Amino acid sequence: MRQFLKELPKCEHHLHIEGSLSPELLFQLAATNRIKLPHDNSAFASISTLEARYEHFTSLDDFLHFYYIGMSVLITSSDFESLAYDYFTRAHKDGVHHAEIFFDPQAHTDRGIAYNTVVTGLVAAQQRAEKDYGLTSKLILCFLRHMTADDALGTYKAASSLGHFSDGTVVGIGLDSSEVGNPPEIFREVYAAASEAGIRRTAHAGEEGDPTYIERALDICNVERIDHGIRLAEDGALLKRVAKDKTLLTVCPLSNVRLRCVSKVADLPIRKFLDSGVRFSINSDDPAYFGGYILDNFYAVQEAFGLSMEEWKYIADGAIKGSWCDEERKTFLL
Ligand code: ADE
Ligand code: ZN
Repeated sequence: MRQFLKELPKCEHHLHIEGSLSPELLFQLAATNRIKLPHDNSAFASISTLEARYEHFTSLDDFLHFYYIGMSVLITSSDFESLAYDYFTRAHKDGVHHAEIFFDPQAHTDRGIAYNTVVTGLVAAQQRAEKDYGLTSKLILCFLRHMTADDALGTYKAASSLGHFSDGTVVGIGLDSSEVGNPPEIFREVYAAASEAGIRRTAHAGEEGDPTYIERALDICNVERIDHGIRLAEDGALLKRVAKDKTLLTVCPLSNVRLRCVSKVADLPIRKFLDSGVRFSINSDDPAYFGGYILDNFYAVQEAFGLSMEEWKYIADGAIKGSWCDEERKTFLL
């Protein structure tokens, strides 16, 4: 079964590129770029103390604190290129054929790194990965929901004015960071603009937030996907709607355990989603922080649920169908 899962053609839809920064690369870039890591936080004493701390996140916000410090070592285009190419190399080994990766421009522009520095590095890695591995990929620009709607709009306009949505450099928008207290409707204006312009739309919802966060993302922000969405299982009517509309949920099992959204993978509503015809993909979220890449997430689900090969085929085919690549690529992958 493990060989079957390894070889299954995979699409990854929920991967924060900044969340693939390993402690090794974090320390290496901190030294190269002369970035001071917080000396008052003993977790940053060494690679091993940092790795040990990553095993004890208490919530999404506890993780985000480390995530934003970690990415502060990324300075040049070449840093972003190395980061993304390392991820693609790893994803290729796990059988990923197509990846749609999130990036958080505001987390970089806010500390003086230009939007274009980030994108130039990511695009260079995408081109190399396609050439070296035949791995296709797309970028999804995420807005940080702990920042204002105006800031999100400004970021959207910066990307738009560079032609990044119209030329396909960026396929869509997303919404991440602290969920509870920062509901999706705050960002309705930027979602309306993206919708109007035919840009793809997703949002993190129902990770820590209750099912109304999912409903509001669908109704008010007109999203086409839901990232995480595990709390959908708590609302039967909404679950039926999501199944009927074939809205893709991008589920991240190891993340949900590390961030204490559930206490174990077996507590995730995977069986319920399968039995109700909800389309979902299995993803790694922030693999360097959560103890596993995409294949580790597949193995964890298999261990907890003992799915059949037919069920895995259904999941993998749904992931291809729910991808934002062109129809020709989908037909090739199916
Ligand atoms: N940013 C990176 N990972 C995230 C997650 N799991 N939820 C919300 N924002 C994030
Ligand atoms: Zn995420």
